[in-house]
Amino acid sequence: MEKIVLLYHTTDGHTIEICEAIKNEIDTAKNEITIISLIEQPNFDITPFDKVIIGASIRYGYHDKSVFNFIKKNQGLLDQKKNAFFSVNVVARKPEKNTAETNPYLQKFLSQITWKPKLLDVFAGKIEYPKYNFFDRFMIQLIMKMTKGPTDKTQTYEFTDWNRVKAFGKKISEL
Ligand SMILES: Cc1cc2nc3c(=O)[nH]c(=O)nc-3n(C[C@H](O)[C@H](O)[C@H](O)COP(=O)(O)O)c2cc1C
Repeated sequence: MEKIVLLYHTTDGHTIEICEAIKNEIDTAKNEITIISLIEQPNFDITPFDKVIIGASIRYGYHDKSVFNFIKKNQGLLDQKKNAFFSVNVVARKPEKNTAETNPYLQKFLSQITWKPKLLDVFAGKIEYPKYNFFDRFMIQLIMKMTKGPTDKTQTYEFTDWNRVKAFGKKISEL
């Protein structure tokens, strides 16, 4: 029995949905899976776990500082374990920016940390115009206009390729 922990940062809940989808791909007869919010438990102890997966979304160009802080504090332990990282952002809806190697946010993130995750991926996120406050809705509309994305502020657009998320879950099982 392996112990796996999925640590996440989310603002609007999409990254936790991705964590749940990853969990569904992992055989629970052979693995014990725990999902933890980095905001609720910034000092979570990963010592007892065999595999540590961290997932975080992008907001205004950055992963949350709770993600950086956790990685910095736990780098020694992370390096001793099987581990993976994934990023969620809407730039990844573009085919030329949807791999770990070609996604600018993931590449920038990796250049800012010294941890080298053993498995990496990036998933396209979701735009939920009706859920946002006036400022965020305006900003996202502007970004979407500039990047030729959808701008109807009455709609929700989900770009996530769930088969890709499932494939990532399988790869975690095989780590
Ligand atoms: C206010 C705001 C700012 C965002 N900024 C970016 C951004 O700079 N680049 C990007 O690719 N996606 C951006 N996104 C898209 C989010 O990454 C996407 O909505 C993701 O699904 C959010 O995941 P979460 O619900 O787990 O936080 C932004 C979304 C919001 C609401």
